Amino acid sequence: MHDDAVLDQLRAFFTNSPVALALAAVSGDHPLILVNPRFSDLTGYAQDELVGRNCRVLQGPADDQEARGQLRAFLEDETAANVRTPIVNFRKDGTPFVNLLYMSRLRALGGATRYIFASQFDVSRARPELLQAYDRDLGQTLTRLSPAAAESGMIVEGTLATIANSAQTVAQARLTLADLDDGAIL
Ligand SMILES: Cc1cc2nc3c(=O)[nH]c(=O)nc-3n(C[C@H](O)[C@H](O)[C@H](O)COP(=O)(O)O)c2cc1C
Repeated sequence: MHDDAVLDQLRAFFTNSPVALALAAVSGDHPLILVNPRFSDLTGYAQDELVGRNCRVLQGPADDQEARGQLRAFLEDETAANVRTPIVNFRKDGTPFVNLLYMSRLRALGGATRYIFASQFDVSRARPELLQAYDRDLGQTLTRLSPAAAESGMIVEGTLATIANSAQTVAQARLTLADLDDGAIL
């Protein structure tokens, strides 16, 4: 299927998703191709402000080397199916948050990665039950994306390892945010 038709189909899927989603190209510096309305709600950036740019713009002045290294390792390893890590990000208005970032691949049937797929969630301002609900929504999104991608000749890679201890994950993210307020990470 032609790229434009594939993207039209993904755009429709993204628009209707209840979770924040972003799609990036594999070539070059992984420029964003699509972000959905929930992504804009979360980050404060409209789609046309970010398309063509790398999503690291959300990291602002934070230097979260460990998380960044994990994301880079995933992107550089063609055999890696998915990655999930919290990372300090900033909304457009400068408000920091801990973004629980999930990334996986959309592969052509031949195996080559065609797009990088990502979902974002503010774990620092969520309650544990909201994190669990997000995990369910993201899992359903991945399940529903599979047949939509198959129509475009693609396979959705990556399974979602749901967060085992959501209370601890939220508490940890809040500590990170508090440290940030104290100037420890910047
Ligand atoms: C589709 C996609 C979505 C991404 N979303 C985010 C994000 O929401 N927040 C973030 O900090 N990084 C995000 N990243 C990761 C960064 O763009 C970048 O890959 C990461 O910082 C590691 O590379 P670097 O060390 O060159 O910055 C995303 C990457 C891709 C491909």
